[in-house]
Amino acid sequence: MEDNILNPKELLNEFVEEEEGFRHLNNPADGIKPITKKYLGVPTHGVGSGSKYYFTDGDAKVELIVVNEEIMRVRLAPHGVFLEDFSYAVPKLKPKNIPVQFTEDDKEFRVSTAKVNCHIRKSDFFISFSDQNNVITSSDAKAMHWEENTQFGGYYVFSTKECHPDENFFGLGDKPTELNLRGKRLVNWNTDAYSFAWNQDPLYRSIPFYISVNEGIAHGIFFDNTFKAHFDFGGEDRTKTSFWADGGEMQYYYIHGPHMMDVVKSYHLLTGTHPMPPLWALGYHQCRWSYYPEAKFRAVAKGFRENKIPCDAIYLDIDYMDGYRCFTWNRRYFPDPKKMIADAAEMGFKTVVIVDPGIRVDDNYPVFKEGKEKKYFCRRSDDYYMEGHVWPGRCQFPDFTNPEVREWWGGLFDELIDYGVAGVWNDMNEPAVFGSGTFPADVRHDYDGYRGSHRKAHNVYGMQMVRATYEGMRKILKNKRPFTITRAGYSGLQRYASVWTGDNVASWEHLRLGNIQCQRLSMSGIPFCGTDIGGFSGEPDGELFTRWIQLGSFSPFMRAHSAGDTKEREPWSFGEPFTAINRNFIELRYRLLPYMYSAFWEHHRYGFPILRPVVMQEQDVLKNHFRQDEFTYGDKILVCPVLEPGQKSRKVYLPKGKWYNFWTNEVETGGEEVEVPTPLETIPIFVKAGSVIPEYPVMQYVGEKPVEEVKLNVYYSDYEANSFFFEDHGESFAYEQDIYSEKKFVVNGDESSLTLNQSMEGLYTPRYDGYHFRVIGLPFVPATITIDGKDITDFTIGDEKVLEFKYTKTFNILQISK
Ligand code: GLC
Repeated sequence: MEDNILNPKELLNEFVEEEEGFRHLNNPADGIKPITKKYLGVPTHGVGSGSKYYFTDGDAKVELIVVNEEIMRVRLAPHGVFLEDFSYAVPKLKPKNIPVQFTEDDKEFRVSTAKVNCHIRKSDFFISFSDQNNVITSSDAKAMHWEENTQFGGYYVFSTKECHPDENFFGLGDKPTELNLRGKRLVNWNTDAYSFAWNQDPLYRSIPFYISVNEGIAHGIFFDNTFKAHFDFGGEDRTKTSFWADGGEMQYYYIHGPHMMDVVKSYHLLTGTHPMPPLWALGYHQCRWSYYPEAKFRAVAKGFRENKIPCDAIYLDIDYMDGYRCFTWNRRYFPDPKKMIADAAEMGFKTVVIVDPGIRVDDNYPVFKEGKEKKYFCRRSDDYYMEGHVWPGRCQFPDFTNPEVREWWGGLFDELIDYGVAGVWNDMNEPAVFGSGTFPADVRHDYDGYRGSHRKAHNVYGMQMVRATYEGMRKILKNKRPFTITRAGYSGLQRYASVWTGDNVASWEHLRLGNIQCQRLSMSGIPFCGTDIGGFSGEPDGELFTRWIQLGSFSPFMRAHSAGDTKEREPWSFGEPFTAINRNFIELRYRLLPYMYSAFWEHHRYGFPILRPVVMQEQDVLKNHFRQDEFTYGDKILVCPVLEPGQKSRKVYLPKGKWYNFWTNEVETGGEEVEVPTPLETIPIFVKAGSVIPEYPVMQYVGEKPVEEVKLNVYYSDYEANSFFFEDHGESFAYEQDIYSEKKFVVNGDESSLTLNQSMEGLYTPRYDGYHFRVIGLPFVPATITIDGKDITDFTIGDEKVLEFKYTKTFNILQISK
């Protein structure tokens, strides 16, 4: 971002001016100014009302939209003409009807809501934002600027903001680097990155959303621009943060905090949340490139049941297809897929199959034939079809940015679903092309009628592919929830799919990286994420695999996957003691399913991330800006994976408050680091005091047996704390019609008593009748226990002083006293 380098023409002009003799008196090119960055000038005018405001320097225009009290959108039109307002990330921008004040004095124009002020400085068009206490949270360090793009038309667009000494940055999707992005320079351009390395950039996804925390106050910037985009967080110049793109509009949302959580929730308000996944999708998934032929697939299924390791899904990678042609079957390997899938379903397995966007050029292949006849494949600027090599050989690629093509693609899942396929894995959709990497820039796209080259559509291609898959499946499955997973994506992809972090490596470094990537994805609006457990390429030993299963048990999406040239990689492949520990952790995941599902509901309904790094809980503690190992799943369970071989113990930071060691029930006081033993059998897990953690019995798969009783683990606290417990049918969209049960628990205690209140919302009644209470950490010996006024006399006090008894699920108030 060097501003002052003279381009060749400038150099020539200087030269020409010196060498008088070369001057052509009537050379028409002589007066043309060189193409350099242009900055907004002095704003001469500001008008607007309600949610829309416009400012101009006489040529360029800036639009400010007040979305709600916390969110404002800034848009720049270099020569006064805005592009049509359309975004794949923000499906409906509906500004809220709220009071907005518009004022002007000698120094600035000011647009204010009750929470945020936007200042447009009259001397230089610098834009800044402040909160209701007039604390400046974000301010331009240069006026917005642009540079004409002579090759493609349009502009490179730039925004440069001040970067403060202790300001730190988070978000931006799947970047394989430290959680804190301060000092980094990063690019968004979806890339197939086989065996990617630490700090390799870019990877598969483009999420142009970051969160800044400065002096305890957070704000977010969502730069909704799909072109190749760049971010510099005080990297080139410690005092500046910049973001810019190779085309499109300078268009960003300023999202006010003051907490990081507020920023993430507001970001979800713009881009949507993940729909509730089918409950089985929160179980354990087993994948490999590839399980074939049918006998192998069946053997893996049997292996799980024989080893008594819970599992809900088995995957079919590309070898199930005939010559890698999507929507076909290799009948030699899979003579009767419908029967095989039905038999697996009998055993409690869902079958998930892969699809890729490359469609083999083959006139005897109905999908290609139809796509060709209907002109559904992408074309180059001169009308040639976009062709490239992927798994099937020479391929053409559907233009998923065309709604008609999406509709067609969605319909192609008819047969797979009829065969019983329950989930679809969307791969290679950056889009990946062997050799050249991806499509050339001149490929044209429909872009939902707004038209664009691949420069504009590249980063949304994968998201539109999985959207087509999701929407098609949703239609075919009627009221059943589809399960989809995607490799590539753009902001808003969470409305359609879960993600995995791509082709990682079986190494301890990648275990560390995966832990950071999942936390980052989670705070960047992608809650349902996971890594290839064990590492895609390379060979993990038993210890690494087990440590990865332990981390994976607390990844929202839990799937083991491995490349074809590696050794067997099922949870029992490494023998004892690994098999038993892997089983224990996968069982723990199944026990915690109701807790995890409730965290998902909190995400879906309220926009909370599922994984929350420590910095999200205590952003005012500067040291926490650099912690990246420990995180909470939901807001009650803190997990700290073991990320080194042979580690006997490790330090874990606990945020302020009281925490129970999950394994021993010992209480720790937070606000500092504690040293925790880490034998191979465990990783540090802590439960926040005051939590009520619901637990299901272990099953080999979701729905194996009816749940007959739910354990409620109640952790004593001497302050008031709330917990939520969500349940529903687990596979339909009835929750959209309020057919769900959301229970709220309030725990409150003092040195001689504990109360637990339950209240309920929603129209769903679970089938089981009762709760099995386990009250942990009481600081007194209980003498009386009453529920809704009735004495409970049948109770036990076991090891670690856990008080246990049973009661029906419809209680209102439990009181325990000395
Ligand atoms: C890509 C995917 C990987 C898959 C392979 C074969 O490398 O990232 O997960 O197994 O393609 O389909």
